[in-house]
Amino acid sequence: MLDFKFKSSTKKINEGNVTWSSPSNIALVKYWGKKEHQIPENPSISFTLNNCKTTTTLSYSKKENTNNFSFDVFLDGDKKEDFKPKIETFFKRIEAYLPFLRDYHFKIETSNTFPHSSGIASSASGMSALALCLMSIEKALSEDISEAYFNQKASFLARLGSGSACRSIEGDLVVWGTHKEINGSSDLFGIKYPHDVHENFKNYQDTILLVDKGEKQVSSTVGHDLMYNHPFAERRFEQAHENMSKLISIFKTGDLNAFIKIVESEALTLHAMMMTSMPYFILMKPNTLEIINKIWAYRNETNSKICFTLDAGANVHVLYPENEKENVMEFIKDELIVYCQNEHYISDQIGFGANQIQL
Ligand code: DP6
Repeated sequence: MLDFKFKSSTKKINEGNVTWSSPSNIALVKYWGKKEHQIPENPSISFTLNNCKTTTTLSYSKKENTNNFSFDVFLDGDKKEDFKPKIETFFKRIEAYLPFLRDYHFKIETSNTFPHSSGIASSASGMSALALCLMSIEKALSEDISEAYFNQKASFLARLGSGSACRSIEGDLVVWGTHKEINGSSDLFGIKYPHDVHENFKNYQDTILLVDKGEKQVSSTVGHDLMYNHPFAERRFEQAHENMSKLISIFKTGDLNAFIKIVESEALTLHAMMMTSMPYFILMKPNTLEIINKIWAYRNETNSKICFTLDAGANVHVLYPENEKENVMEFIKDELIVYCQNEHYISDQIGFGANQIQL
């Protein structure tokens, strides 16, 4: 295991800036339930998205007083006071690993490729982009840092900002959480899925249907807390391990029928956990169910390998292989778009992770 403590450096840098663009991800096996220090209760795996991204420029300048954290946050050029508490908490959690945080004033300028009010969570892309920017400062201050260390520590830090963010650093399929059949898997950071992946999953498509834009979902903190003392929690965590094992052979053989079963079951289980917790929530909307039923009917009629997954909200991620792109898009436009708010949807596909942008 790598040690993520900051190695003391003699380099002095007064100011600078760095920009990273980092993607969102969609979980196939869901992370739902965590222990202290952002340790997940079960392993999860996600597709990295290609089009839903956050770009963050971090400018830093040395300050005299090192008593407090000092930073300003801007979204699309507008100062965002309401983003500050989450970042302050993030800084507190990662300070032990980045002791230079109090030495600088930071300007965090961020923008998303997806509308802020779309109901798409920006915490995964946002926290991973910020973690990567901070790692670039560590790299500038340090003698030498390997790429493996850079990415692993970026994921480790991103996890402390938002759990799912640790799956947004590197790779198209990313595993987070220890699993006995996945060598190198860790509760502390995400890793690139290390086993064979069949061609069927190449350029896998994800069309996100925005059923319910902007309305407040259950916050992730409240959501994960629902798994404390949940009557089905222990069995659920075991099931995630089992589903991960099944996915390993599915990714190898390319068995899309088996893939569909796991992915849809995971999505419905996530919502079932919310419906059976105390307090309980129903985050699906009538149109979520309309879409699910239409997808099932289409699959029965056409033998398509289309399926759906859900986040902790009403929006539907429609997943399908690249070779069905034309047909499925036609189906979506003809039959599903009517269930989206303002007919709004986002076309995406599996991507490869974050990248640094030279301005
Ligand atoms: C339903 O990563 O947003 O999207 O660690 O509290 O920030 P925090 O939670 P977060 O939870 C995401 C939950 C999920 C499933 C998943 O992405 O695995």
